[in-house]
Amino acid sequence: MSSSPELRLRVSEASDLTPTVRRFVLRDAKGSALPAYEPGAHIVVTTPAGHKRSYSLVEPGGAQPQEYVVCVRRDNDGRGGSVSMHDDVVVGVDLLVSVPVNRFPLKPSPRYLFIAGGIGITPVRAMVRRLRVAGRTGVQLLYLTQSAEETPFLQEFDGPEDTVHHSDDRGLLDLWPYLAVPDDDVRVYCCGPAPLMRAVQRLTPHWRMSRIHMEEFTAGPAGMSLPFTAVWAATGRRVKVPAHLSLLAALRRDGIRVESSCEAGICGTCRLAVLGGEVEHRDSVLTEGERLSSVMACVSRARSAELVVGPHGNGGSV
Ligand code: FES
Repeated sequence: MSSSPELRLRVSEASDLTPTVRRFVLRDAKGSALPAYEPGAHIVVTTPAGHKRSYSLVEPGGAQPQEYVVCVRRDNDGRGGSVSMHDDVVVGVDLLVSVPVNRFPLKPSPRYLFIAGGIGITPVRAMVRRLRVAGRTGVQLLYLTQSAEETPFLQEFDGPEDTVHHSDDRGLLDLWPYLAVPDDDVRVYCCGPAPLMRAVQRLTPHWRMSRIHMEEFTAGPAGMSLPFTAVWAATGRRVKVPAHLSLLAALRRDGIRVESSCEAGICGTCRLAVLGGEVEHRDSVLTEGERLSSVMACVSRARSAELVVGPHGNGGSV
């Protein structure tokens, strides 16, 4: 399991920002300051129904924040985490949350171009607010949503450097005019659904890679998936992992039990030990050091033709 410490925080506010997006404010019950964080950070929340879900912190943070604020879009077709947050979390409820983790940090730059799709606005809002409160200019925002009704924080983004685009009204926005000319003085930060991320990737091969920063709503499969063979070290059993199945699903299909929770690479439950082969890590939970000997079976895959794995603490058994 991930060794991140957990906090028990109380929900002190809960309100709807749009028909599907709800905002939650979490504070220490005794009023103590919370662990520090910087824009781009997220916390992993255990919902009342027991799901672990990663949510970006929408405020700019700092050294001693008094609260963590997250926004959750309800997905009735999802795996239940957002529905539990919407239906089960009310003011006064205590939730277990991880300390903030930041895998999408805001780096220094003369200028910025932020591209946010839908609920992907959450880490971007924290970054834009941090920069603008500090008086920075050259902070351009493209905020892409379906409709004005489904645009959290709409009223905040009406400045000269903001473009808020609703696809229901005007179709998809052509991003090329914003990305055609690479500029080493600009960092591009993009957060949103996979099609938006892929579009930005397609349009920026001529940019210096270090200037492009991406974060999907959740960690998870990215890029092309190739088949490989997993070898369960304890028994030597060889398990085919086809391109369309996760390592976790393939092991289970062959009768090997591996615990899981989020199945999105964020909670640490499905961690396995790696005893041979090379991993393509796609999770958001392991540290660089942990990646040398572990793999999150729900999202990560093999770079090599074979990957030898076995139980790690919480397990996996035949
Ligand atoms: S089940 Fe949560 S990281 Fe795999």
